[in-house]
Amino acid sequence: MKQQLSQQPGPIGIFDSGYGGLTILSKIREVLPQYDYIYLGDNARTPYGSRSFEIVYEFTLQAVNKLFEMGCHLVILACNTASAKALRSIQMNDLPNIDPQRRVLGVIRPTVECIGNITHSRHVGVLATAGTIKSESYPLEIHKLFPDIAVSAEACPMWVPLVENNEANSPGADFFIEKYINSLLQQDRHIDTVILGCTHYPLLLPKIKQHMPDGIQVIAQGEYVATSLKEYLHRHPEMAAKCTQEGQCTFCTTESEEKFIESASAFLHQSITVQHLSLE
Ligand code: DGL
Repeated sequence: MKQQLSQQPGPIGIFDSGYGGLTILSKIREVLPQYDYIYLGDNARTPYGSRSFEIVYEFTLQAVNKLFEMGCHLVILACNTASAKALRSIQMNDLPNIDPQRRVLGVIRPTVECIGNITHSRHVGVLATAGTIKSESYPLEIHKLFPDIAVSAEACPMWVPLVENNEANSPGADFFIEKYINSLLQQDRHIDTVILGCTHYPLLLPKIKQHMPDGIQVIAQGEYVATSLKEYLHRHPEMAAKCTQEGQCTFCTTESEEKFIESASAFLHQSITVQHLSLE
């Protein structure tokens, strides 16, 4: 039976398969500190990057429905894999049935919009999960806006597990970080801009910068997504009015609360409280 959703204003929902969306949440909270947020990490089922279209869609829809039930009117998929594989279907097929007034936004479009002003050589590289690369969302979206930009892409299947298993700063991480960067740059020696097309990757940024040759700009998505959300809320005052503004943030995970607190507190440099929930 279709559940009745509350029409009262609520927090903005931020969803990721795990900890990666925290890199987006942090930037959003810097730009829009006045709003309330619920962060939901599906840590029990991460990574999404190697999963099929159907599974990523199913899991993402479950998360969106949960955030709507928790009072959100606006949900940001702070996950490229979910944005690439589930966003369009949810917007086109599910939202009209769930509640046509609610909105789900992704992270790929805001990232792509900025790229035209950043690259000088017009040769761009994308590092992302296997799922995002296979979807071809980045080349497709970039070419819609900037047909002159050459796009090369490399999947980095080991990077999300490094983050989720707290190995981002370990010496062993260097091998895989160097490996995927080299594979990308070998595809096109004119690349001057590399998009980190997975929200987990900024958590590897110190090592990524260490292995990236000088003169190549590395783009983390957070600030572009945050600016884009600010503009969206400005253009849509009717949605802004449905988002509560007490500066609070609630964290939820499908994994154990202790595990999330340990890792997320380190990424966020603050202590947090976390609620466990189930999406199945
Ligand atoms: N952080 C996600 C992304 O941006 C997903 C990573 C994963 O679960 O594989 O793609």
